[in-house]
Amino acid sequence: MARQNSRVASIEDIDLSGRRVFIRVDFNCPLDEGRVADDTRIQRALPTIEYARKAGAKVILASHLGRPKGRAVPELSMVPVGERLAELLQTEVIVPDEPVGDASKKLVQNLRDGQVLLLENLRFHPGERKNDDGFARSLAALCDVYINDAFGTAHRAHASVEALPRLMRDKAAGFLMHKEITALTELKTDPARPFVAVLGGAKVSDKIGVINHLITKVDRLVIGGAMAYTFWAAAGVSLGRSLVEEDKIDLARRIALKAEARNVELLLPNDHVVVEDINEKAAHEVASNEGFPASGIAVDIGPRSILRFRRAIEDAKTVFWNGPMGIFEMDAFAEGTNQIANAIAHAQCHSVVGGGDSVAALKKTGLTPFITHVSTGGGASLAMIEGKDMPGIESLLSTIGANL
Ligand code: 3PG
Repeated sequence: MARQNSRVASIEDIDLSGRRVFIRVDFNCPLDEGRVADDTRIQRALPTIEYARKAGAKVILASHLGRPKGRAVPELSMVPVGERLAELLQTEVIVPDEPVGDASKKLVQNLRDGQVLLLENLRFHPGERKNDDGFARSLAALCDVYINDAFGTAHRAHASVEALPRLMRDKAAGFLMHKEITALTELKTDPARPFVAVLGGAKVSDKIGVINHLITKVDRLVIGGAMAYTFWAAAGVSLGRSLVEEDKIDLARRIALKAEARNVELLLPNDHVVVEDINEKAAHEVASNEGFPASGIAVDIGPRSILRFRRAIEDAKTVFWNGPMGIFEMDAFAEGTNQIANAIAHAQCHSVVGGGDSVAALKKTGLTPFITHVSTGGGASLAMIEGKDMPGIESLLSTIGANL
């Protein structure tokens, strides 16, 4: 990836003046009652958009929103996103009522230098997810230059991410894409040590690829959230009615053995916040592995585990964090996750946080500014660390492309 990064052209390498510049952004933002509920992804793309406008480009932005399965779903229209973007840019943002077609073509034709147009949800067209060449050609006909700033979608081989840039001669990464590639590449190539990975969330199965990769790189692996209970089950420890993936117990056992063989310190929570019933107001107590109530459900890491995990992070020089330590959406069970956010923010290290839940927890605690890099990609950051194919990056490196 380091090699790839140095070969990916930057938006600054391309003349944008007076040209129709297609910028693939990831504006897959949460909506609430027809308004953007969290505009982080829009904010993070602003430097690239502002740069293109100042350089005199006719800016054509395009994104997916949700998973509308190839048909127009009014609730997933880009209109609210365009409204929020217009507020942030303090300029008009034109939103045609279809991703491609005569109306979009006409609006693009009439764009003036510095003006901004946001295409309607790309996934309203069935060709987007199918990486369809015909759909990519319709998009290519709208533009002269292709910029990808949608790191969150870089692991998807979709038409606007893969087929389209292959058709284009002038293509490059935006500023956000470059930042993401650089920060994640640093974790993969030459991380400063100690390197600590903190993984959480409900399922071992969601993280298996990334664990298998990280175990060959890190000095310490801290595991919290419900996935830790599957590891305890593998060690023969029963935690009452806590969530366990029965079919992943063997896998957890193998991971623990691999960690031991590689001298990687594996830290699991050994005390827990326990409830009888999962709801915010439920009475809760702290229990350790020994004496865990048979009818109890673990919902967060306990105070002793918080201390151990904090110590494991304290002297780290590199930290990667993905996934909460408990049911952090409920304030009563968010302490473990908040404390991890706090420990990482205070460590003198290169810290990278990826994944919607960890990013949301950081935001809630106001600690985002103390993290070296907060990734806009959940699945994409994990895919990149695992070393999976990243079509959105690979396609920027293709040399063919005639601009039709
Ligand atoms: C994300 O939110 O992780 C990206 O926008 C990708 O969305 P998708 O998982 O629906 O492809």
